[in-house]
Amino acid sequence: MTTNKELLAIRETNTPRGVATQTAVFADKARNAELWDVEGKRYIDLSAGIAVVNTGHNHPHVLAAVTAQLERFSHTCFQVAPYDVYVRLAARLNKAAHGPSPKKTIFLTTGAEAVENAVKIARRHTGRSGIIAFSGAFHGRTMMGMALTGKVVPYKAGFGPFPAEVYHVPFPIPFHGVTIRDTLDALDTLFKSDVEPSRVAAMIIEPVQGEGGFYPAPAELLRRLRELCDEHGIVYIVDEVQSGFGRTGTLFCCEQAGIEPDLMPVAKSLAGGFPLSGVIGKAEIMDSVPPGGLGGTYAGSPLACAAGLAVLDVIEKEGLCEKARAIGEQIRSWATDLQTRTASVGDVRVAGAMAAIELVENGDADKPDVELTKDIVAKALTEGVLLLTCGVRGNVIRFLPPLTIEPELLAEALDVVGRVITDLAGSVRKAS
Ligand SMILES: Cc1ncc(COP(=O)(O)O)c(C=O)c1O
Repeated sequence: MTTNKELLAIRETNTPRGVATQTAVFADKARNAELWDVEGKRYIDLSAGIAVVNTGHNHPHVLAAVTAQLERFSHTCFQVAPYDVYVRLAARLNKAAHGPSPKKTIFLTTGAEAVENAVKIARRHTGRSGIIAFSGAFHGRTMMGMALTGKVVPYKAGFGPFPAEVYHVPFPIPFHGVTIRDTLDALDTLFKSDVEPSRVAAMIIEPVQGEGGFYPAPAELLRRLRELCDEHGIVYIVDEVQSGFGRTGTLFCCEQAGIEPDLMPVAKSLAGGFPLSGVIGKAEIMDSVPPGGLGGTYAGSPLACAAGLAVLDVIEKEGLCEKARAIGEQIRSWATDLQTRTASVGDVRVAGAMAAIELVENGDADKPDVELTKDIVAKALTEGVLLLTCGVRGNVIRFLPPLTIEPELLAEALDVVGRVITDLAGSVRKAS
């Protein structure tokens, strides 16, 4: 038997440490919300490959679609010999995306590439250069992705200079005392002191900040930004890379605020584990780039597009948006109960099945408990639950199970995590 230890030794000698791996659990097999390592140990997967397998590991319908496509062909390059699954998936997404404007969709490979392309399209459409993003944001690891990202360590430190004319304003986080008013005031100041709105090509926001700490953008802010963008001719980009495909209880999260973005980068769960990203956008803006300006050799792989069509079938047929809401409620009731028993759980945030707890010392929002966060994740792993952290301060545990997880399996995992948290943080009780 190959052991995790043997593979870790090969990994440490042969692959760079810059690609940090959170665990030394080398995967052997995964089905729905369970994963087995090469030593046969079973884990309940509450990470879904960072929100990629919303339809569960190896969903049979997705596998069948990819297998059928593989028998036809695996690659032609869409720019050389286009194929049906690309255009059919584009048509379905254009129809599914919120809002009255006709849409067009381009496919790419990674989330960062989708964001890069959204910025390219916005600049070409407006003839302007400035881009506004938010503190705590995460938009990927390419040069523009890093420039837009609002967290320095580990994503930006030592990698500059970045593309110019990117401006950050604070993202509202009630738990940290930052309000919508603060955000709007900062935008006002930015327009007065740094850049005139007529020079700004785009504003980009995650409807729920992902890596930044699972902070939902208030609907009121999303709507106000829509108005501001309309007022100044700025392209409104809503990054649904992590929040899309049913994760927050609707196909795309921004639907809940009733806004129609101009451009929407998507990736992760779009193809249920196969590498695919895209930008869904208003046709008139998408078509502002002349032929040849967009694309990529592997962009819109036929295998991944076939998977994407199957993913949309599964979301519809298995009611995954409703399931996401039910998962969120199950996590909320578990987490709020836990909160009454330990002051370490400072905040509980639930946006469908994009849920998180923020760990602090003795209920104090200004005292992030990073060590406790790391210890919980490590101990849960030894007890068979795969969790992820996030947050600009590294003190948030996020819950991203596949939307197909059985409620009993989720309850089993939450029992384990609850026990781990009370064991590790139990001595600290909330002062009433
Ligand atoms: C909101 C958001 N945008 C962009 C990205 C980058 O995606 P990728 O890692 O596929 O490049 C991520 C990845 O976590 C993300 O959460």
